[in-house]
Amino acid sequence: MPRRAAAKSSPAGAETVSIDAAPSAEAASLAVAAAVPSNTLLEGDCLQSLAGLPDSCAHLAFADPPFNIGYDYDTYDDRRSADDYLAWSKRWMGEIVRVLRPDGTFWLAIGDEYAAELKVLATRELGLTCRSWVVWYYTFGVNCRQKFSRSHAHIFQFVRDPSTFTFNTEAIRVPSARELVYGDRRADPKGRLPDDTWILRPQDLPEGFGGDEDTWYFPRVCGTFKERSGWHGCQMPEQLLGRIIRASSNPDDLVIDPFSGSGTTLAVASKLGRRYLGCELSPQYAARIRERLASARPGDPLDGAPEPLKSVPATQNGRRIGDRRSAKKKGKRTGKAAETLLFPTDQP
Ligand SMILES: C[S@@+](CC[C@H](N)C(=O)[O-])C[C@H]1O[C@@H](n2cnc3c(N)ncnc32)[C@H](O)[C@@H]1O
Repeated sequence: MPRRAAAKSSPAGAETVSIDAAPSAEAASLAVAAAVPSNTLLEGDCLQSLAGLPDSCAHLAFADPPFNIGYDYDTYDDRRSADDYLAWSKRWMGEIVRVLRPDGTFWLAIGDEYAAELKVLATRELGLTCRSWVVWYYTFGVNCRQKFSRSHAHIFQFVRDPSTFTFNTEAIRVPSARELVYGDRRADPKGRLPDDTWILRPQDLPEGFGGDEDTWYFPRVCGTFKERSGWHGCQMPEQLLGRIIRASSNPDDLVIDPFSGSGTTLAVASKLGRRYLGCELSPQYAARIRERLASARPGDPLDGAPEPLKSVPATQNGRRIGDRRSAKKKGKRTGKAAETLLFPTDQP
């Protein structure tokens, strides 16, 4: 359901032209849009780059800042005191709030170390509303020996106004387990929205992660993957950004990423027909981002598997599409009574 639709719609045939009238909200927003460089990468400190932008110009901001865990970037020093990191976070997040339109959305990716503090900062100090606290579960994380290997990051969906924001549910629906695994005719053919559920591995659960759940499964872009650009260790999967950008913006909207890294947000925005504006501190990364963007055109497919959960195991109680097909071949009954057996009460 697109939540922003009401703000833009006008009654058919009601268009009037008034010469001396004050500029309409639409005209004012066009003027703001014209003042913003779009499809651009700004090299340098995002605090300075964002300061040059007008208020309320961006529909969507996605930020995957350094997590302050001592990661080895080529320019940025990722080892600050906690107080310094939090003060800096408040400054750049404040700028993001300023440049967001009143109906805009801010998605923030962050590690365990500062997730709680940054959420409190965003909501209590900067006045945003948290709509979703998504857990991104990824495979191919760094293997640990003295603790459980980390396989998740936090991704917050914040909005400025909880009553008006873009949320295109139709654009991000995913096939349900009913449809994908069990071939249940009762499945909604439009699929379902992606839960905040703890799970071990997607292949351990019959339905894995649903598209409407706030635990999302996308493999990390690991070293051997074709998608991996190979020069930035924090490259995010295009499919993950695809879900965020499709859900929280519309074609031609302006998408901002203050920490562009390998340029994933910008490349995906471009492929999905959004305008983009990125910042990146490192001149070396910036040069590589420009190369990546040169080959990302509107309409191009996103890298990576669009639906990583196509293969899931059978459950103890249920049969899968393959079982149904072989049953049919053998002339077995596949009517309603048989379906009752296929879908015990614990089905989603
Ligand atoms: C975690 S990475 C982002 C990765 C990105 N999401 C991707 O998919 O490639 C963070 C990036 O922020 C950049 N950075 C750090 N401080 C910055 C600043 N003050 N302004 C702009 N970029 C900065 C780093 O150089 C690094 O490339």
